[in-house]
Amino acid sequence: MVLAAGAGERFGQRKQFLKLGGVRLVDHSVETMSRVCAGLVLVLPSGSLWDGRSVDDVVEGGATRIDSASQGLAAVPPDVQLILVHDAAHPLAPTSLMESLIEAVRQEGVDAALPVLPTRDTVMRVEGDRVVETIPRRGLVTVQTPQAFRANVLRRAHERGGDASDDSVLVQRMGANIKLVAGDPRNIHIATKEDLAMAERLCR
Ligand code: CTP
Ligand code: MG
Repeated sequence: MVLAAGAGERFGQRKQFLKLGGVRLVDHSVETMSRVCAGLVLVLPSGSLWDGRSVDDVVEGGATRIDSASQGLAAVPPDVQLILVHDAAHPLAPTSLMESLIEAVRQEGVDAALPVLPTRDTVMRVEGDRVVETIPRRGLVTVQTPQAFRANVLRRAHERGGDASDDSVLVQRMGANIKLVAGDPRNIHIATKEDLAMAERLCR
């Protein structure tokens, strides 16, 4: 499924319909996902009409990313065993990354597969402009999207619910067996206008 129902607050507008290399962010993600997935559910803001590549279902998202993922999940046919969750904010995710996630989650006993990058910079917790704590970087990673899940595990995680930045957090809280794969540094998260400008340069 592809999540594209966000409001783009940090960006200042709905970024999913803006173009990168002449193609809308959402179309980048839908295109790559359609190369590796047997079916595709697209989650859009309420009231948006889909005029892109043909997908299996288009549903309305919710107030948070988790709400939108729940809406998308409800549209996934019950016999589906593996679900790849992607979004429009990672338009440069390569097909090869999706393939390695699928391969990883297919392994015996694995519940989810996540692309991660080791944290390179020093990490501090701050309150306003005051430093409260330095978090030892050793053993820290950042988690990218797309993310692959056993469908039953993802469904259970959403039934339990809770606040989380994405599905990986819900699944991790359940104590799921998570396999890590190497993320791709070019798979940047487009949160701001500067990120989109950087992605544009990466594309060239
Ligand atoms: N998303 C969604 N539904 C929401 C919130 C987010 O489908 N209620 C999707 C976004 O469209 C995006 C992805 O989740 O593809 C990653 O989220 P993010 O970069 O946070 O996008 P926005 O939520 O739109 O941006 P912001 O947090 O700055 O408002
Ligand atoms: Mg958001």
